[in-house]
Amino acid sequence: MTQTLVILPGDGIGPEIIGEALKVIEWAQEHAELDIALEHDLIGGQAYDAYGAPFADTTLEKCRNADAILMGSVGGPAWDGVDYDKRPEAGLLRLRKELDLFANLRPAIVFDALVDASSLKPEIVKGLDILIVRELTGGVYFGNPRGIEDLGNGQRRGFNTQVYTTGEIQRIGRVAFELARKRSNRVTSAEKANVMESGKLWREEITALHASDYTDVELEHMYADNCAMQLCRCPRQFDVIVTDNLFGDILSDEAAMLTGSLGMLPSASLGAPGVPGLYEPAHGSAPDIAGQNKANPLATILSLSMALRYSLERADLADLIEQSVRAVLDSGARTADIMSEGFREVSTSDMGDALVARLSKAQAAAA
Ligand code: IPM
Ligand code: MG
Repeated sequence: MTQTLVILPGDGIGPEIIGEALKVIEWAQEHAELDIALEHDLIGGQAYDAYGAPFADTTLEKCRNADAILMGSVGGPAWDGVDYDKRPEAGLLRLRKELDLFANLRPAIVFDALVDASSLKPEIVKGLDILIVRELTGGVYFGNPRGIEDLGNGQRRGFNTQVYTTGEIQRIGRVAFELARKRSNRVTSAEKANVMESGKLWREEITALHASDYTDVELEHMYADNCAMQLCRCPRQFDVIVTDNLFGDILSDEAAMLTGSLGMLPSASLGAPGVPGLYEPAHGSAPDIAGQNKANPLATILSLSMALRYSLERADLADLIEQSVRAVLDSGARTADIMSEGFREVSTSDMGDALVARLSKAQAAAA
């Protein structure tokens, strides 16, 4: 049966990097029996300009009815003056919230070819393979009350609420433990139980879940600040890190940099069974290089690969794409963000073309 993939390029470099993922999709439709229908729509600033809202109801309906969603990036200085509820970022948050995509998977893998692109020493990052499981629909991103109020004395007060319930912690904890079982069987849970009640509850609930259902998995608790420090001191100590929305936002950017560039980190956001997954690079819209054919499309292409694996039941194609990413890096091609001496700097579109060429080779080799 034909599956449906909604394509939301978004703002900044979004359209360019999505363009390269589309090349991969076209290749797979032509050469690898990928039976998929694409629907294109707007999100973020583009949607705000066209529809007056960063994520329109009609787009939401399209997404609900799809099998998966592939997004580029949202945001940019053009919308800096827009109210929070209409900002490009609010569009993405609405999409995550409406579909209840509570589990955000951000794998940080150091490809051998990129070991020198990391800002850490090669011996510290070589072979790194960690998975950040970030809670995505709760916490301070969505907690109430929130706002900015006028205190009347020339002062204002800005406030947000960090809040988690038992159910929210348990369901993300389950995802982390289940994924750890398919990996190296270790979970590190990061919070600030030393200063925050929500962190204390997080630790208690994760501990209880572990004791009741997952004693075969090794569990460690860590304060989020220590976790940030340990990630650059000795990142290979981690397997799966499970953490809340805000800490996960920060720790995943840090983990991404260990791999050489934010431009390499894909992500999957998953909800209940049957709900379409959302796949997007973990990096932002990089307005400073938008439209210049400079951005690294690999995080987006690896996000497509995650979509094939987790939503579209084409793990074979996901393997082929990941293998081709390795091959293209081994061949010396580098976009500016991962460029280092002795390699060949290529554009966004060159990188996409090189990857597609590798796909054909990899497929021929497998046959
Ligand atoms: C991310 C981004 C988003 C977030 C922004 C664009 C709303 O930084 O996906 O990590 O903060 O979640
Ligand atoms: Mg982020």
